Amino acid sequence: MNFDQIIERRGTGCIKWDAMEARYGVSSENGIAMWVADMDFRPPEAVQSALQRLLDHGIYGYGGLDDDYRAAICWWMANRHGWSVEPGHIFTTHGLVNAVGLCLQTWTAPGDGVLLFTPVYHAFARTIAAAGRQVVESPLVNREGRYEMDLDAASALIDAKTRMVVLCSPHNPGGRVWSAQELRALAEFCARHDLLLISDEIHHDLLMPGQRHIPMPIAAPEIADRLVMLTAASKTFNLAGTHCGNVIIADDRLRQQFAGTMAAFGISPNSFGPAAVQAAYSPEGAAWVDALCAYLDGNRQIFDAGIHAIPGLRSMELQSTYLAWVDFSGTGMTPAEFTRRVEQGAGIAANHGPTFGTGGECWLRFNLGTRRALVEEAVTRLQRAFGDLQ
Ligand SMILES: Cc1ncc(COP(=O)(O)O)c(C=O)c1O
Repeated sequence: MNFDQIIERRGTGCIKWDAMEARYGVSSENGIAMWVADMDFRPPEAVQSALQRLLDHGIYGYGGLDDDYRAAICWWMANRHGWSVEPGHIFTTHGLVNAVGLCLQTWTAPGDGVLLFTPVYHAFARTIAAAGRQVVESPLVNREGRYEMDLDAASALIDAKTRMVVLCSPHNPGGRVWSAQELRALAEFCARHDLLLISDEIHHDLLMPGQRHIPMPIAAPEIADRLVMLTAASKTFNLAGTHCGNVIIADDRLRQQFAGTMAAFGISPNSFGPAAVQAAYSPEGAAWVDALCAYLDGNRQIFDAGIHAIPGLRSMELQSTYLAWVDFSGTGMTPAEFTRRVEQGAGIAANHGPTFGTGGECWLRFNLGTRRALVEEAVTRLQRAFGDLQ
């Protein structure tokens, strides 16, 4: 659990470090990659050993006997989230963007509307648009530095073609952990407008001290007949490249419908994803996540203190995720200018706010899932790049 260890990722074909120059014009030689949401850490030893066992055996034929894998998922949800999951309610997809796409195919038709609370994880809108469905944006309200859903405003956006809401819980970007009250209000909203709720809870383990994530089925059990849960171990344990995510559906009718889509597209997982997840969802994995969250909290504190020392910059209070969401509007600069200073001045690749939808115009998202020394270096560079504001 040495999160300070230097592990060279450049030259491994990873998008975060190796595509930074092409995407952001930030030198791959001395730039700092703080964009796409994966971490620069190895997963716990139990995961490495499980994958090594597969390699050592050396036969990569069909897997699929997944009782132990399902049991591990149920154990994790019960122990970490107080949520009792039936093994038979779990589908395994090629990650959660894939899962969102499959949900769209199952429960919407071309031209239907899908509601998002923006700014939000950019792949939602991209997937919805690529499927020929309409993105309906309901902007989050920034109230005293934290995002809130405006369900009255969202109600006004609903029409006969709106079928679905995709929620990000905890929220990316902005790091909100939604309260039970907020989740219940959203559930009631979905019932009132006859909407299906897709709750993407991929960030649910990455909690800052004192925060408690509430799974949607716990907050609002009464909407089980319109709820589809998306979870994965990929953000928590840095396994995104194994492309393994779960769709968990308690309702028989919805489950049958989704099973039809899985069959229609012939979706079944590769052998590596479930093996990694099964090993991660264990007492050893739990101890690793506790240590990880404490480390990320340290990164967050250093980053926020450094950002807040720059006049005009404000980092949203991170309750969950390792994705700092920074408001540059106080600088009075155009997005082109503050982005140029971050990329060319500081040599940092950060996600551009507008890609997250309405509300992201004056923001950049910085990935803090890296070793502390790099976060400190990033802060120093940002303070230099905006030094004239001091
Ligand atoms: C909310 C959310 N959902 C899904 C994903 C990606 O999931 P996957 O890699 O399993 O497709 C991300 C990645 O950052 C995310 O933030």
